[in-house]
Amino acid sequence: MRLTLARYRTYGGVANYLRAARDLLAGAHRHDDDVPAFEAAFARWTGSPHAVMTSLARVGIHDLVRAYLPRGGRVLMSPYTIVDVVNMVLAAGATPVFVDVEPATGNLSPAALEAAVQRLPSGEAMVLVTHLHGVTADMAAILAIARRAGLPVVEDAAQSLGAELDGRRAGTLADAGVYSLGSYKNVNAHFGGVVVTEDARIADRLRAVRDARPLFPTRHLLRKLRESTVNDLLGAHPTWGLALFPLFRQAFLRDWEHLNRLLRIELDTALRPSVPAYMLGRPTSLQARSALVQLPRIDAHAQARIATTSRYLAALEGHTGLALPPPPDGLRHVSTYCAIQVRGSTEQVRARRHDLLRHLARAWRDVAAQHLHDVSALPSFRHLGGTCPEASRIAGAVVLLPTYPGYDDEQIDANLEAIDRWR
Ligand SMILES: Cc1ncc(COP(=O)(O)O)c(C=O)c1O
Repeated sequence: MRLTLARYRTYGGVANYLRAARDLLAGAHRHDDDVPAFEAAFARWTGSPHAVMTSLARVGIHDLVRAYLPRGGRVLMSPYTIVDVVNMVLAAGATPVFVDVEPATGNLSPAALEAAVQRLPSGEAMVLVTHLHGVTADMAAILAIARRAGLPVVEDAAQSLGAELDGRRAGTLADAGVYSLGSYKNVNAHFGGVVVTEDARIADRLRAVRDARPLFPTRHLLRKLRESTVNDLLGAHPTWGLALFPLFRQAFLRDWEHLNRLLRIELDTALRPSVPAYMLGRPTSLQARSALVQLPRIDAHAQARIATTSRYLAALEGHTGLALPPPPDGLRHVSTYCAIQVRGSTEQVRARRHDLLRHLARAWRDVAAQHLHDVSALPSFRHLGGTCPEASRIAGAVVLLPTYPGYDDEQIDANLEAIDRWR
């Protein structure tokens, strides 16, 4: 048995850092001349007429909410997402209206959306749909409800670059779509995002807003590069398997919270009513060049993740303690992770998930819990109203099985054998 591979890895590999170093020396971080070439290639790749690179996916969401709604408008959205997406809606001057999710996927529930639309007070509103874990939401039903009510729909495809529905890319199924180019995403531009839309006026508006911002300062770019290089080195084979995983495994099994926290994400659950200044930059050529060379690999990587997920799902079918996501169907679900759930009520699932993760750690498997919250239930957001029981349950239930390229059959089978012994 080889050493345990890490739960997460950044995309792009060593070549991505070497390219960044070369581009830094050439000064590509001081201009954005290469951004239009990336945008054109991305638009071609998605089949959408307009692509606008943004500083981050979350800032793309902020700018789209501003473009579609006047201040005080409402955004119907799932609370099972990153806290900052909700913050961006608030920062754009809108009010989130939390809508519960589907039990199997954690994506927006059409039935709950229909009910929320019926209850909407007068005034302008829009729908924000998240395709979580690379699994496409039920867009036909969601679009039908939104169209009947005359609401624009934006897709948060930050986790779903490469997913498809009926031959069309997730992110191009509604009025506008947002993708993330963060370091753990399948196109890693160190940080960044892209918005696609068929509406030239929306694209022009987003571009004008972005172009009024200053280029990202070099120190910010260097800090992000340093962070992702360090994370990547620490997570690399064999550093992780030989030294760090044994340490973090011990920390997890012995509840050493100060170390456990280092592997957790979404620790900051504060409400932030404005966009932090450091997020409001213009993406540079360094990021655009990095993203451009990774585009041709998206579909092959998606197929590899789909194959991995199919292997997990075939073996786990019938496991009485687990609920499984819908199977990937061709390129439909790109399966950023294979997001399985422990079964049980909201009161039971957290303890059961912890039990599964402890069991896996004892078996030397490095597997992560999904750390997203039901944002509607967080103390700083509760005043916004809306209870979402499914979002609360699923936030305690999901375990993310790795699917990244290079996570090989031996590792997958070791995960499966360990899970099979947990009932
Ligand atoms: C569902 C979802 N939406 C939005 C984002 C934000 O992406 P970015 O970090 O590029 O702002 C993320 C990032 O992980 C995400 O998972």
